Amino acid sequence: MRERIIIDTDPGQDDAVAILLALASPDIEVLGITCVAGNVPLSLTTRNARVVCELAGRPDMPVFAGCDWPMRRALVTAEHVHGKTGLDGADLPDPVMQLQSAHAVDFLIDTLRAEPSGSVTLVPIGPLTNIGTALERAPDIASRIKRIVLMGGAYFEVGNITPAAEFNIFVDPEAAALVFGAGIPLVVVPLDVTHKALTTRPRIEALRALGTPVGHAVAGWTDFFERFDMHKYGSEGAPLHDPCTIAWILRPDLFTGREINVEIETEGRHTTGMTVADWWRVSGRAPNALFLGDIDAEGFYTLLTKRLARL
Ligand code: RIB
Ligand code: CA
Repeated sequence: MRERIIIDTDPGQDDAVAILLALASPDIEVLGITCVAGNVPLSLTTRNARVVCELAGRPDMPVFAGCDWPMRRALVTAEHVHGKTGLDGADLPDPVMQLQSAHAVDFLIDTLRAEPSGSVTLVPIGPLTNIGTALERAPDIASRIKRIVLMGGAYFEVGNITPAAEFNIFVDPEAAALVFGAGIPLVVVPLDVTHKALTTRPRIEALRALGTPVGHAVAGWTDFFERFDMHKYGSEGAPLHDPCTIAWILRPDLFTGREINVEIETEGRHTTGMTVADWWRVSGRAPNALFLGDIDAEGFYTLLTKRLARL
C-alpha cells in the first residue's frame, strides 16, 4: 500500500533531498508540495520546490504557496546556512512549471476533507505555520490526518538556532504548539537523530558517483550545506535533517524512539521554541509523540543513494 503524503517545506538543500527521496520512491505517493517561509522567504521556497520537482522530472507535481509569515511572530530566516537562494551549491535553471493558484492552507484543508479519513500523512520539514494555520481555521481536519511525520525539535542535542530551540520550531512556536496539542499521531525527527546522519565525505562522493544530474546536484548542495555545520560543530559532516522523515516512512526499522510527552515552550525568556521532551517520563503528562532518538546512519545513506539512483 503506497503511503500518501503531502510534504510541507522550506527548501533548503536538505528539504530538496527529502523531496527527491520521496519522488524517487514508488512506495510513496506525493499528493502535493506546500511551501512555507523558513530557511528563505516564501518567494524563494516556492521557486526552489519547483526547481527540485523539475530536476526529478516531475513538472506535473502540484506545488502551492503557503504562509509567508509565522502565525504570531516575525519571520526568522537562515541564509547563513543555506545561502542567499536557499539552494546554493548547485546551479539549476529557474523553473518553468507554474505554482498552483490555490493557497497551500486551502489545499491542505480541502484535501484532508476530500480524501478518506486517515489516508493522508503530512510531512512538515520546515516551520509549522501552514499546518498550524490549517488546524486553527479547520479544526475538523485533525481527526482526518493519518499521521504527521515532522523534522523539528531536539532534546539531548538541544538547540541550533538558539541554545534551547531548533529552527523549525523556533520560527513558529505557536504553530508548533497547535500541532503538538491537536491529538494527531505524531512522529518527531529531532536534531538528536539528524545529527547522527552526517554527510561524511564517502557518503557525498557515493552520491556524486551516481553520475546523474540528481547525484551532481545533491553532492553540490551537501558540499555547500555542510560547511556551516562542520565549522560550528567541528564534525566530519553536516546533519542531513529533512530526508530522515521520508526515510522513517520508508524504513521505520532504521530508527528507534520513545512514545513520550512533548510540549512546546512559547513564553520562555530564553527558551521559546524549545521542545520540552519528557524523555525520562517524569512529568506525568500523557505521551503525544513518537520522539525518535537514534538512526542507523549507514542504512539511511544506503537507502538514500539507492533511491536517488532511480531518478
Ligand atoms: O533545524 C533544521 C531544520 O531547519 C531543517 O528542516 C532545515 O531545512 C531548516 O528548515
Ligand atoms: Ca527544512
